[in-house]
Amino acid sequence: LEPQSKTLPTTKEKHIHVELGDRSYKIIVSGSEVTNATQAIVRMADQILDVLSDLTHAVILGDEAVASSVSEPLERELSGRKIRVSAAQIPSGETSKSVAELARLWEWMLSAGVDRRSVVIAIGGGVTGDLAGFAAATYARGLRVVQIPTTLLSMVDSSVGGKTGINLPGAKNMVGAFWQPSLVIADSITLNTLPDREYVSGLAEVIKYGVIEDPDFFHWLEVNIQSLICRDSGALREAISRSCESKARVVGDDERETSGRRAILNYGHTFAHAIEATAGYGQLLHGEAVAIGMQMAASLAIALGRADQNLLDRQTRLLVQSNLPIKFPEANVPGMLEIMRRDKKVEYGKLRFVLPTKIGHVELVGNIDESHVVAAIQAHV
Ligand SMILES: NC(=O)c1ccc[n+]([C@@H]2O[C@H](COP(=O)([O-])OP(=O)(O)OC[C@H]3O[C@@H](n4cnc5c(N)ncnc54)[C@H](O)[C@@H]3O)[C@@H](O)[C@H]2O)c1
Ligand SMILES: [Zn+2]
Repeated sequence: LEPQSKTLPTTKEKHIHVELGDRSYKIIVSGSEVTNATQAIVRMADQILDVLSDLTHAVILGDEAVASSVSEPLERELSGRKIRVSAAQIPSGETSKSVAELARLWEWMLSAGVDRRSVVIAIGGGVTGDLAGFAAATYARGLRVVQIPTTLLSMVDSSVGGKTGINLPGAKNMVGAFWQPSLVIADSITLNTLPDREYVSGLAEVIKYGVIEDPDFFHWLEVNIQSLICRDSGALREAISRSCESKARVVGDDERETSGRRAILNYGHTFAHAIEATAGYGQLLHGEAVAIGMQMAASLAIALGRADQNLLDRQTRLLVQSNLPIKFPEANVPGMLEIMRRDKKVEYGKLRFVLPTKIGHVELVGNIDESHVVAAIQAHV
């Protein structure tokens, strides 16, 4: 039986090639203008089989939040094509990135007869991608994995770059591996069920790419932010693909975070991590903390004479239009400093930050006095 989707128009897809030598792979960004949900699943199956033509055993590891909308329909579609499918659900939430959940998956994979030719299909946000990706990286010394991100954050960030892993109590992302996927399918149709707050949170990382290395994209965002907020699928395809291109460029230069180039992705994140750690668990979503953190970083850059007010104004406008928070009234400044001193970017007791000089360019700046950091926080409380 010929897959029916052969007749579907594919011109609206974008393909991004992530160049990593023999670990190179493709990100396919699709939208919903030309497809309904059923057709989108057929298309996903086509895309998977196109890249992994030898697929005989698919191991679907999906966030329970997308079980009925994505994982189960894809399971039926693949089964209908005579592919053996084993499927397991991952409970929603960060606590699933644990040793216990990883062990449960390993044992389940053993009982499901997973072997080296099996292909893991991770379906969900960054939690699922990190956990299932790490399970794939470790089981039988490494299985191929297809990432199907279903949050905006995971589409533009965690599914690109090959970092996988879990948390230890009190130590986020402490155990993991670089494990590149064979294919990433970012279909914005899967975002239909994503709550607004999660969606908006992902926009912070999208805006980040414009500030750190793509001034044209930042300008595009200024023009198209309303369409993006309405989740217009054309705007989404553009935003997702340009964000992935941006991350792929950075990661391609520095796959394993050795040259320092990859650090620019942490723009706003030194502040954001301190905000997240001091705000109390679940108070702020990651992207919300990143939005506030970018504001603090921009103010710090201005105070150091490295950037002008116009940069902060443009960034502020875009964040506000996106409905992202730009202030952190509950800031516990000593607590934040304490966390920042322990940040990986600290060198010999002096703080280091990724700071913009203009829209589209950031630099890693060391030797920064704490008084400037305090002032930058206080500018956004
Ligand atoms: N590997 C990397 O390079 C990298 C980069 C950035 C972040 N991360 C990790 O990603 C994680 C955060 O990812 P996230 O923001 O996607 O969080 P998440 O995976 O927890 O998803 C957010 C919430 O949305 C739900 N959800 C997911 N898709 C949905 C959908 N389509 N419809 C309805 N609900 C849906 C989830 O169940 C969860 O409740 C963190 O653990 C972070 O460490 C990893
Ligand atoms: Zn982030």
